[in-house]
Amino acid sequence: MLLQLLKSRFAAALQPLTDDIESSLEMIRPSQDSRFGDFQANMAMPLGKKLGLPPRDVARKIIDGLDTAGLCYEPEIAGPGFINLRIKEELLSDLLQKCLTDTERLGVTVVAPDKRKRIVVDFSAPNVAKEMHVGHIRSTVIGNALQRMLRFYGHDVITDNHIGDWGTPFGMIIYGYRNLLDKAAFDKNPVTELGRIYRKVRGLVDGDGEEAAAVGKAVLDETAKLHHGDPANVELWRLILEHCISEIDRIYSRLNVSFDHTLGESYYNPMLPEIVENLLKDGIAKESDGAIGIFLDGEDEPPMLIRKKDGAFLYGTTDIATIQYRMKNWQPDAILYVVDFRQSLHFKHLFAAARLMGVSESVELTHVKFGTVLGEDNKPFKTRSGDTVGLEGLLDEAEERALAVVVSNDSDNQLSETERHETARRIGIGALIYADLSQSRESDYVFSYNKMLAMNGNTATYMQYAYARVRSIFAKGNVNVETLRGGDSTISLTEPQERALALELLKFDEAIEMSLRDYRPNMLTSYLFDVANRYSTFFDACPVLKAQDEATRTSRLLLCDLTARTIAKGLELLGIETVERM
Ligand code: ARG
Repeated sequence: MLLQLLKSRFAAALQPLTDDIESSLEMIRPSQDSRFGDFQANMAMPLGKKLGLPPRDVARKIIDGLDTAGLCYEPEIAGPGFINLRIKEELLSDLLQKCLTDTERLGVTVVAPDKRKRIVVDFSAPNVAKEMHVGHIRSTVIGNALQRMLRFYGHDVITDNHIGDWGTPFGMIIYGYRNLLDKAAFDKNPVTELGRIYRKVRGLVDGDGEEAAAVGKAVLDETAKLHHGDPANVELWRLILEHCISEIDRIYSRLNVSFDHTLGESYYNPMLPEIVENLLKDGIAKESDGAIGIFLDGEDEPPMLIRKKDGAFLYGTTDIATIQYRMKNWQPDAILYVVDFRQSLHFKHLFAAARLMGVSESVELTHVKFGTVLGEDNKPFKTRSGDTVGLEGLLDEAEERALAVVVSNDSDNQLSETERHETARRIGIGALIYADLSQSRESDYVFSYNKMLAMNGNTATYMQYAYARVRSIFAKGNVNVETLRGGDSTISLTEPQERALALELLKFDEAIEMSLRDYRPNMLTSYLFDVANRYSTFFDACPVLKAQDEATRTSRLLLCDLTARTIAKGLELLGIETVERM
């Protein structure tokens, strides 16, 4: 909000000096050190070079042309030509006032109409025949946070869960269902039994010797029969799929995630033969050794295969069909794929193929990639027996451990048993989501329950605690914030800690914008962490309920209110709930 205002004033001042105003405006940033003002504008150095003038002179020229009225104090030129800016307190108060009354958006503006886009977010997308494991949490929570932020920012978002519901794992279950099913167990708990037979068959196939080969072949036969529409296999597949979907839905509801569409791989299957024929006809795909591929890196490099020698289609063929479908039916301006970095080559090929097929360069195709979840031994996160860790168990354990935190905090038994469990649920799930989002998404991240549930540091627990603490002030002081907010009391900033908190609160919109610029939710988590820290410094230095006079007390209560709501909104955008007491 503030930065926006600064930029528009600077744009006018820069007009006579450069045609590339945009890149100069990028050089206005919050100051690292408050002694150098609140913001620093550093464009005088590169501009000076370009104009052949001493940067300090250029800085002077910029300042002379800058309309500072109602914005900041007289700017200072420092060092080689930095422009230091200190915002006027009245402006800070005015802007805070606007945020206070703007209950829904807290002053965050909606994207300009000409920048509004229709964006497809392809995320989560597990292979549903297998149990969802720790690897899926990243796509699910990153994708969910992005789609929430994009919507909040005013884009037209379509979410699509491109589940794997058609591959060999289904052939395995079909084979297992026919040959290894424990009917009684299935009747009692179909999902568990299906999981068991999947693992059993997988184990058989992965073994060696004759049995492995025979089962492997049988599985491929079942899969092929399914793909060719064999009625019995299709019926069995439907039955199995239904159970698989109800299983993932349970996890989604625990994570508070939902999708506009769930068009899995099977949905595109009927379209594949024609797509390959058309690509051949258009000269985009070529035959090579009986298989069909798209040669993207020249004839000498391996092509992106779209039909195997035996006639089977591939993951990539389905993704080509999916892009075509999305372009035709949704006409998006962007498609984001929130998928593990290990699929980088696949997406590189897919995007190149899409361009050949006529998807305009103006349509953004982005692989929002992320790294691996590691255990505390820095190796891919596995259970002791070496299995991948199931997502459900992870959620259970996070909630259990959160309960221990809640109970130990609640030594004076303020919470009922139900409240304790509900609080633990929110804290446990929140911790899990936040721990993931607060990492730079491209790096691998080390999973640790202790770290994610820490009451101090950059965790959801710390943020939820900060929120609950603010709320408890209102309860303790018997303050009705609603009336306070709507009344005509104002925020006045006299103490440096108040001012620092105010400045931070006014950066909310930038934090969201920054997160969306390169699809990095960790920009928002760092921001929330900064807010919580500024709040804590403020709270230590400035008495609120016991402030020296009524006006100061009200002003500080309003700051508290805005802090609480900024944290709550920020967490909500990340898919995390708050708690009133903990
Ligand atoms: N099901 C795939 C997997 O688990 C991810 C799908 C991602 N989306 C896509 N359009 N390819 O690896």
